[in-house]
Amino acid sequence: MRASFDVHPRAVASGLASFVPGLHRFTNRGSGGTMSARYCYSVWLRHLVRAQQSGLPTDPACVAELGPGDSLGIGLAAVLSGADRYVALDVKVHANVPRNLQVFEELVQLFRDRASIPDDSEWPLTQPKLARYAFPDQILPAARMQASLAESRLREIRRAIAGEPAGIQVDYRAPWNDPATIEAASVDYLFSQAVLEHVEDLEVTYAAMRTWMKPAAPMSHSIDFSSHDLTRAWNGHWALGDGLWRIVRGTRRYLINREPWSTHLALLKKNGFAPVLIEPRGGEVAPGFRPAGRFRHLSAEDLSTRGVFVQARASSRSYPSVRSASTG
Ligand SMILES: C[S@@+](CC[C@H](N)C(=O)[O-])C[C@H]1O[C@@H](n2cnc3c(N)ncnc32)[C@H](O)[C@@H]1O
Repeated sequence: MRASFDVHPRAVASGLASFVPGLHRFTNRGSGGTMSARYCYSVWLRHLVRAQQSGLPTDPACVAELGPGDSLGIGLAAVLSGADRYVALDVKVHANVPRNLQVFEELVQLFRDRASIPDDSEWPLTQPKLARYAFPDQILPAARMQASLAESRLREIRRAIAGEPAGIQVDYRAPWNDPATIEAASVDYLFSQAVLEHVEDLEVTYAAMRTWMKPAAPMSHSIDFSSHDLTRAWNGHWALGDGLWRIVRGTRRYLINREPWSTHLALLKKNGFAPVLIEPRGGEVAPGFRPAGRFRHLSAEDLSTRGVFVQARASSRSYPSVRSASTG
């Protein structure tokens, strides 16, 4: 039974390789699905539709994203929906200008066509799910999209993506290591997709997010607590002792932090975020599953929570001072 939770040999090999000086730079290459405009379009519209369903505002002027990955496409979809400022923070440079521009042009076409939101048949693993995948006319009516897709505005966005002075702001801060990188109380909406399970210093990151948000501004995060294929079982990372984990983790810039849902919930509350929606996804726990020492205290709920889509609002109190600290 124990063997079914075993680590994949390739995960050990990659961890070991990261200790070899010449090989370190080959770690953490490529990340997620944001090379695809259709993925970016789908993720942004899923967060937006779910925001409306929760009664949250759906026309943010300033949008921030944690961990955009291979392109800034999800945030560019937010800009094409009307935002005039987008700030993307990553721990590592993955995106580049030519790819951002290519994804952007494909996004423009998808919005012009008012294309349906790519669904499970195309992105079966992507969260959150929707009841309907039709283009959200009620949130993005023709008049709003006509204004946001005006040629003069698109020209400004292209200039912003290329790093030229423009009437729209697209800021890519990678690597970010200082919460002061975003001004306090400046963000109307913040989101992340498949990122918070990778963040090393969650304490600093949640505190920073709270600092950046305007009072009562919403955020949404899709978090995946699985082992990301490092082990045979989805929850096998919670069965690995610290010694073996140090080898698997290696010296990579990030891997997974192995923190369960309760850690995130506690940090939301500690930093003055009120959850609006908590949508957990369950994972099966085999009868013989034994967590490693430091995970023995985890509740049955944590041990069977494979993912969460969470929306939360910052408290209405603003946090004007920004602490300087480095992220993991
Ligand atoms: C699995 S990828 C997801 C990328 C993208 N959001 C997507 O949906 O495809 C995880 C991303 O989180 C980023 N990341 C890891 N730690 C981070 C941190 N402390 N702050 C910001 N981004 C981080 C990684 O560099 C990577 O871009």
